[in-house]
Amino acid sequence: MEEKKNKMDSRRKFLLQSGLAAVAIPFTQISCQPSKDKVVEVENEDSFEFAFLTDIHIKPEMNAPKGFQMAIDKVNELNPDFVITGGDLVYDTMRGNYEQSESLFSLYKDMSKGFKMPVYNCIGNHDLFAIYEESPESEDHPDYKYGMWERHFGKTYYSFDHKGWHFITLNSLDVTDNKRYKGYFHLEQLEWLKQDIEKVDKSTPIVITTHIPMICTYSQLNGGEGSRTANNASDVFKIMENHNLKLVLQGHIHWKEYGFVNDRFHFLTGGSIAGNGWKGRRHNTKEGFVKIKVSGNDFSWEYIDHGWEAERLKLADNTI
Ligand SMILES: [Fe+2]
Repeated sequence: MEEKKNKMDSRRKFLLQSGLAAVAIPFTQISCQPSKDKVVEVENEDSFEFAFLTDIHIKPEMNAPKGFQMAIDKVNELNPDFVITGGDLVYDTMRGNYEQSESLFSLYKDMSKGFKMPVYNCIGNHDLFAIYEESPESEDHPDYKYGMWERHFGKTYYSFDHKGWHFITLNSLDVTDNKRYKGYFHLEQLEWLKQDIEKVDKSTPIVITTHIPMICTYSQLNGGEGSRTANNASDVFKIMENHNLKLVLQGHIHWKEYGFVNDRFHFLTGGSIAGNGWKGRRHNTKEGFVKIKVSGNDFSWEYIDHGWEAERLKLADNTI
């Protein structure tokens, strides 16, 4: 009870400081509701926040642990109800040997214990163990492909509920015959998805998290070969057709992109923690993560700079 009161007090304090409690000023970033409805949020005890951190690419080099720790500290300061990650937790196990890959997952696991709230992980292409030709490990290894991730984090696709919203994390990856990764939702998972949402009321807002995007403007803007999206994403959209799909959270591209489709659902590609391999921005998107505030049937979002760009520039200056 006391904890709940403190949370409400701190929320009121935030709203007062930002002016939201006094007047109906919309959030600085995209909101999916007209600003007048934001006033309702102040009174809505069922509103909640969560953070979406994607493409962490943790490794011991390049001050990556320092950068990730800054993100963890910022999330703890914001104090959302939980964290969802968008895959590529580590860099990299696709080509790796067992010891190196295991140490990367251990590093991620140890560091992510620093989050003061639950963390729901998603698998990315760099988390697929030993799938590339150049890996010294064989396909018979028990940790091959999804195995190492599953041993550390459990199932690669699952769902959970929070305050009337249904959250689904998908595994958007498979391996091609010539040993490359591809964006694909395998059939066993699609069957599970059908069964999972059968139990969900048609009006319940649903959030899907996927590493490989289901919708993305990258290829339209940049051309080049290959798609940056999962090639059977439409199968997932068809399954969701008669449900209240609200938001698709995506990783992989390391850029920030938002869209709202047919007055039905939103998609958000959430930048990255690692930027361009910890060297700088990728596609001009600053390193950061997304904070999402849910209120009733709607949400607003904000891209959070956890200070890594400034810190990395300072570190680079000191080495000159
Ligand atoms: Fe990535």
